[in-house]
Amino acid sequence: MATANIDGIGIDYRESGSGIPLVWIHGFPLSSDVFERQMTIEGCRHIAPDLPGFGRSDRRPAMTIDSYADVVIGLLDEIAIPAAVFAGLSMGGYIVFAIARKAKERMRGVILIDTRETPDSEEGRRGRHEMIAAVRSHGPELVVEQMLPKMLTPETIEQRPEVRERLEAIMKSASTDGVIASLSAMADRADSTPLLPQLNIPALVAVGARDAVTPLSDAERMARALPDATLLTIPDAAHLSNFEQPAVFNEAVKKFLERIVETNR
Ligand code: MLT
Repeated sequence: MATANIDGIGIDYRESGSGIPLVWIHGFPLSSDVFERQMTIEGCRHIAPDLPGFGRSDRRPAMTIDSYADVVIGLLDEIAIPAAVFAGLSMGGYIVFAIARKAKERMRGVILIDTRETPDSEEGRRGRHEMIAAVRSHGPELVVEQMLPKMLTPETIEQRPEVRERLEAIMKSASTDGVIASLSAMADRADSTPLLPQLNIPALVAVGARDAVTPLSDAERMARALPDATLLTIPDAAHLSNFEQPAVFNEAVKKFLERIVETNR
């Protein structure tokens, strides 16, 4: 891990490989560790930050999706990367959309993993605020208990204990500040529906066939709205499709990157 100071926030990030820059933005309540099986995909320079309050990065009590996007853009400025492919997992996808609104000229492609372009419903927002109150009184463990069963398929939870345990450790590394700040950021996020038809760069939309948090219908809708999208449905995967089925996911990313490199030649 390396560390950068972005506007006074210590941001830890993984970096490996060489080639086209590929920025991995994690979801909630995770860290860059959720991409550890992607860091070996060849032909690209991987950059995977821990967002503020997650993994080993400094905590911040209040964040918005836009301020997470500013941290990622600031990191790329700091390490002198003018343009990249941006991959966002769930909340990371919301951040990719915010980066697209701020700095589309820096995007050579996007990988949208188990995410959605629509904002929270009123009921969804209420649920986030109830969760914030519960985390304030009982700590972030509660989120781990509630979310872990949605992240992986029941078969993986039962039959691949090493995968479940690794995920649990990643989720438990989230700080109270990080969890509260990101719940509030997600509740207030913008509607990215109008952005999609304007995102005229190659897009890979990946979804676990059994994702119940951001289901296949969300991925299909995004793939239809994007001008140049490929839809990848990953069998035997729930919400963390890259983590649960890395071989299938990585193969598709490799092909996607080859296409981007080829068209930029
Ligand atoms: C995530 O995986 O990042 C979150 O579940 C996304 C969300 O709650 O909207």
